[in-house]
Amino acid sequence: MNWLVKTFSSSIGKKLMMAVTGLCFIGFLMVHLAGNLTVTAGGEVFNAYAAKLHSLGAPLLVMEFVLLALAVVHVITGLYLFYRNVMARPQRYAVNRNAGGRTLGSATMPYTGVVILAFLVIHLTNFTFVDKTGTTIFQIVSNAFQNPVTVLFYTLVMVVVALHVSHGLWSALQTIGANHPKYMPVVMAASLIFAVVVGIGFGFLPIYFSLIA
Ligand code: HEM
Repeated sequence: MNWLVKTFSSSIGKKLMMAVTGLCFIGFLMVHLAGNLTVTAGGEVFNAYAAKLHSLGAPLLVMEFVLLALAVVHVITGLYLFYRNVMARPQRYAVNRNAGGRTLGSATMPYTGVVILAFLVIHLTNFTFVDKTGTTIFQIVSNAFQNPVTVLFYTLVMVVVALHVSHGLWSALQTIGANHPKYMPVVMAASLIFAVVVGIGFGFLPIYFSLIA
């Protein structure tokens, strides 16, 4: 047990925690995007997907708690690493320098992370913690996206999500060992492509919902 505490208290342990929790979120994003895209087959299919998910009952509740715990670990560790980086400002550039160089994604990680956190609070208030009696999830989401401000807000945040994922995925893969110089360009390109798919996939949804309601 002592080795576990020691590992996670170390710098590399914290990076590992960021990587593992981040990769779990990427897994969640893929499932969430696939689920949301069922709307392209019609409102009934989207509702059926949501109903199937909720019919899971206890296992769904467990997954939600795991997701929440992962979010808490990811955010607290990320903020701690950012704080430590700021405190070590004179050596900051030496600390940050890595094989991928500084990109817009890497330079904005803490800020895009905070935007996503704020978005999640609003998002769950919009679609999860709402009274769903006498309506359907399709109706709730379509109604929300009748407001152009909501459409714009969601679409802009999806650009932020894509930016965060573009660096996060590459960095996480590097942390867990995909850091061979030969494969680095492939891993970077794959992370970028994935981020673009996430950005366009999610970014398209508010516009689509607003049009088909
Ligand atoms: C335009 C994009 C998005 C749409 C239309 C959308 C839609 C939804 C809907 C309808 C729900 C409620 C599902 C239900 O209760 O049946 C939901 C839940 C959720 N969404 Fe999104 N979502 C979007 C983007 C995102 C993004 C980018 C994230 C993460 C960064 C995210 C994270 C979550 C989480 C954590 C839940 C709660 C899951 C649960 O309780 O099981 N969503 N979303």
